[in-house]
Amino acid sequence: MTPNSSAIASQGVFVTGTDTGVGKTVVAVALLQAAAGRGLRVVGMKPVAAGAERSASGRLVNEDVAALIQASNVQAPPELVNPYCFELAVAPHLAAESAGVTINLEHIQQAYGALASRAEHVVVEGAGGLLVPINDHADFADLVASLDLPVVLVVGIRLGCLNHALLTAAVIHQRGLRLAGWVANRIDPDMSAFDGNLRALESRITAPLIGVLPFAPERRATMTQFLRPELLAAGLGLSRRARGPR
Ligand SMILES: Nc1ncnc2c1ncn2[C@@H]1O[C@H](COP(=O)(O)OP(=O)(O)OP(=O)(O)O)[C@@H](O)[C@H]1O
Ligand SMILES: [Mg+2]
Repeated sequence: MTPNSSAIASQGVFVTGTDTGVGKTVVAVALLQAAAGRGLRVVGMKPVAAGAERSASGRLVNEDVAALIQASNVQAPPELVNPYCFELAVAPHLAAESAGVTINLEHIQQAYGALASRAEHVVVEGAGGLLVPINDHADFADLVASLDLPVVLVVGIRLGCLNHALLTAAVIHQRGLRLAGWVANRIDPDMSAFDGNLRALESRITAPLIGVLPFAPERRATMTQFLRPELLAAGLGLSRRARGPR
């Protein structure tokens, strides 16, 4: 592909999870690395981050945002990558409330549009799960709908994950969203019946299993190699629109 790819429609994918702490950032980083490996100009986005440290310059810095920026090969201003950042590590609408802010979907849409005009692919990470409220009226599923993005669901494989995963898949369907695929993430090395849980989900989720990530406690372990190459297009949401051969 040519470096000047303005003719190719920019597109993206939204990474949600069965819960907080299940590996959304790990998977978003892996997708960014995979897309960059395919020669795409990519950028990560975390529309709403709750839980941040104040840097020496007084700016709030969130870990996920830093990881996404590091995995991106297109650099963009932090206010586009992360339009809302709150110090308190609580639910986003509560963190916003305590900061005296109301999260606005149009503002996020504009930031996404600005990122999409700079890169060929945008990997957007949610916060918590899909029904987490954004403000008094909207939740993350509304945000996904407003950005018109396919969803990748990260399932943290631990006790309780069948219910969380199937509920999330049901909501994706119910809200008219598109599930591009799902990733099984082995976050609990002691989980019994790992294979049985995987089979139970594979037979019930009607979207491809893009990858099975092993338990890898090393900080920032690279997981790209565990995403199935033949399903990467689905994982990146690339199958939605026609693209040239790669
Ligand atoms: N496969 C894995 N093996 C070992 N540790 C993992 C694995 N996947 C994720 N983790 C660890 O679990 C923690 C949560 O992962 P991650 O930050 O990606 O989750 P998240 O869903 O993005 O969380 P949040 O809701 O806070 O955004 C991190 O410390 C991460 O390093
Ligand atoms: Mg995260």
